[in-house]
Amino acid sequence: MNATAPIGLLDSGIGGLSVWREVVRLLPHEHTVYYADTAHCPYGPKAQDEIIKRAVHITGWLLARQAKLIVVACNTATAAAIDYLRDHYTVPFIGMEPAVKPAALLSQSGVVGVLATRGTFKGRLYHETSERFAGHVKIIEQPGDGLVELIEAGKTATPEMTALLHKYINPMVEAGADHIVLGCTHYPLLIPAIRNITGDKVTLLDPAPAVARRVKSLLEQNGLLNNSGEPARHEFYSDEKPFNLTI
Ligand code: DGL
Repeated sequence: MNATAPIGLLDSGIGGLSVWREVVRLLPHEHTVYYADTAHCPYGPKAQDEIIKRAVHITGWLLARQAKLIVVACNTATAAAIDYLRDHYTVPFIGMEPAVKPAALLSQSGVVGVLATRGTFKGRLYHETSERFAGHVKIIEQPGDGLVELIEAGKTATPEMTALLHKYINPMVEAGADHIVLGCTHYPLLIPAIRNITGDKVTLLDPAPAVARRVKSLLEQNGLLNNSGEPARHEFYSDEKPFNLTI
């Protein structure tokens, strides 16, 4: 494996960019290649084997671009496919997991809201973490049906989005949640809209900074940090076609 090779990131769409931006902030000398599986978005309602197939396809594509480490920047794809990927490839994978553990440990009210896709709620990791670390708090699980589709369509600041968010967030606030876990990498893009509903009294938890720190330590452990000093290159693809991101 080559230290000057890029870090690969994948998501069903643009949500993984919330992880990409933390990785790039922490590791400004790393090249990245990002794959948005837009034609197959959303993953949330899909069956596990279908998501595994997509993850395998994209992993092959990223490996063809020499990715030295792959971030599965999607909670749903992590829940469905990370075990399979780790069993079948030697490249290191880092996945996403809803930040239920810190939320449960930090909660003063004893009530925590979790907003995630249906696929993520079905995942082994989510259940194990909730059982192990969140048995002492009340968890309000809310599938974010429809949110990813609106974000992908660029409709983050629309009456439709506001109505959906009220429907999902109000019951959490009314039940006394003081922490809301953003369990899908698309949802940090909604932080301003969610803040309009919760105000400052609720902490919104996004695991992306912790994932970026994990990327750094795994690269360090494997001697794969890019110390070449050349300017970082960032490539973005949607369904194998390049797109530009204004950085
Ligand atoms: N960004 C994905 C996640 O973190 C979105 C899931 C979807 O495509 O439904 O779960």
